[in-house]
Amino acid sequence: MASANNALRVFFILTVICAVCAGKRAGAKKGDAAAAPAPGGDAAPEGATKASGADGNFDISKLGATGDGKTDSTKAVQDAWTSACGATGSATVLIPKGEYLVGPLNFTGPCKGSITVQLDGTLLGSNDLAKYTASWIEVCHVENFVITGAGTLDGQGTGVYTKSKTECKAMPNTLVLFHVTNATVSGIRLLNSKFFHINIDTSKDITVKDVSITAPADVENTDGVHVGGSSKVSITNTSIGTGDDCVSIGPGSSGVTVSGIVCGPGQGISVGCLGRYKDEKDVTDVTVRDCVLKRTTNGVRIKSYEDAESVLTASHLTFENIKMEEVANPIIIDQFYCPEKVCPGKRNNSSIVSVKDVTFRNITGTSSTPEAVSLLCSATQPCSGVSLIDVNVEYAGKNNKTMAVCNNAKGTSKGSLEALACLV
Ligand SMILES: *[C@@H]1O[C@H](CO)[C@@H](O)[C@H](O)[C@H]1NC(C)=O
Ligand SMILES: *[C@@H]1O[C@H](CO)[C@@H](O)[C@H](O)[C@H]1NC(C)=O
Ligand SMILES: *[C@@H]1O[C@H](CO)[C@@H](O)[C@H](O)[C@H]1NC(C)=O
Ligand SMILES: *[C@@H]1O[C@H](CO)[C@@H](O)[C@H](O)[C@H]1NC(C)=O
Ligand SMILES: *[C@@H]1O[C@H](CO)[C@@H](O)[C@H](O)[C@H]1NC(C)=O
Ligand SMILES: *[C@@H]1O[C@H](CO)[C@@H](O)[C@H](O)[C@H]1NC(C)=O
Ligand SMILES: *[C@@H]1O[C@H](CO)[C@@H](O)[C@H](O)[C@H]1NC(C)=O
Repeated sequence: MASANNALRVFFILTVICAVCAGKRAGAKKGDAAAAPAPGGDAAPEGATKASGADGNFDISKLGATGDGKTDSTKAVQDAWTSACGATGSATVLIPKGEYLVGPLNFTGPCKGSITVQLDGTLLGSNDLAKYTASWIEVCHVENFVITGAGTLDGQGTGVYTKSKTECKAMPNTLVLFHVTNATVSGIRLLNSKFFHINIDTSKDITVKDVSITAPADVENTDGVHVGGSSKVSITNTSIGTGDDCVSIGPGSSGVTVSGIVCGPGQGISVGCLGRYKDEKDVTDVTVRDCVLKRTTNGVRIKSYEDAESVLTASHLTFENIKMEEVANPIIIDQFYCPEKVCPGKRNNSSIVSVKDVTFRNITGTSSTPEAVSLLCSATQPCSGVSLIDVNVEYAGKNNKTMAVCNNAKGTSKGSLEALACLV
């Protein structure tokens, strides 16, 4: 397996994040997500002791975990995983009610059977940052995985957010699925992640449903769910309020459906950033529907770096049945994305990321700025096949009128507010 590569990748990620932090804001975002180290790839240890329970049930409280919120229970949880992973058939790691303090968890497979993590209690993420190499809970090279229950993954980020800003430290994601096939994350609550809450990387057939995700509105990089390099991903019936994107869909993703999301506060639902690094792959076949965005900075957004490092295409993107409640930029395509002017290439004002076949249908509600629609495409790479169908978002303020700002966006408008029908 590519362990050396992955080790390098983590190192590179840390370097990049730091370089960018040094330039003040984290322009290093999606794709830098300190996704996953721990490639492993070896089979689970033979003869891992069935530490407890019958029928492949591994209860951490019977393996030495203490649910007092203070005693470090990392070893018990890790042992439960190792045993479950080595068990044939279906095995369960049970986290009963109580608060269990744990450092990084390495849930690496391949495992012999399918595994369910039954989360009834709370896992508290250790704030001893020296313990982390990349993320908090990493599920790697696993097939047929479920994490479910009414419990909580509490990243305890509030204890380190200031540190991440002032000391420029790379922060761990809460839950990473890396090289995972056929997994479901359901019912659980994620709270105050130090970085992204859920990061789905290089995985396929993944469902996230009935989850709630909460972090402070003023802490960046606390994205709700990030998807990168993955296919057949469904994120549904989930409420997300954080300081960054509710859902972000990065390079190499296809067949992603996002529905029934209540988003806010936060930065909305994004495709991108695209083009930050070399060799990024296309994004295609993304549907976002039946969502409500509440006072977010963006509604639905496609963003690519100006002078990107990769030639790639974002296509077949549909955004429909979406309600905006005082969203600052309800509909936005931005081919000139460049936070704090930290751009990868030389700035010659030509995008090499193309955006095509994008439908915005039945998008209603209000915006908090006059520009309800912004389609900022480049002259060298105009956006094409854009449809604005039944787009009726109105400026909520009184001192101005609703408007659209569009450059180089080609396509058709139908049934939309006249002021927004800006396509050529
Ligand atoms: C995680 O576990 C796998 C297999 O058990 C091992 O190969 C890998 O080195 C571990 N990774 C870390 C970061 O401990
Ligand atoms: C996916 O995993 C679940 C258990 O986690 C299993 O019941 C189901 O059969 C798996 N689906 C496929 C297609 O393997
Ligand atoms: C949506 O998720 C919530 C938990 O967050 C759950 O109580 C509710 O039943 C789910 N709704 C549907 C339609 O599945
Ligand atoms: C438009 O979207 C809203 C949700 O925002 C939904 O209730 C309504 O049924 C949709 N209308 C049509 C015609 O699909
Ligand atoms: C812009 O710069 C990139 C390299 O940074 C180069 O490949 C491209 O040809 C340039 N485009 C124009 C129009 O000069
Ligand atoms: C880049 O292009 C945009 C729109 O096509 C234009 O508004 C802007 O002034 C240009 N910037 C530079 C630095 O040429
Ligand atoms: C209306 O909004 C536009 C765009 O934000 C701004 O340029 C313009 O000055 C505003 N007009 C008034 C009267 O405030």
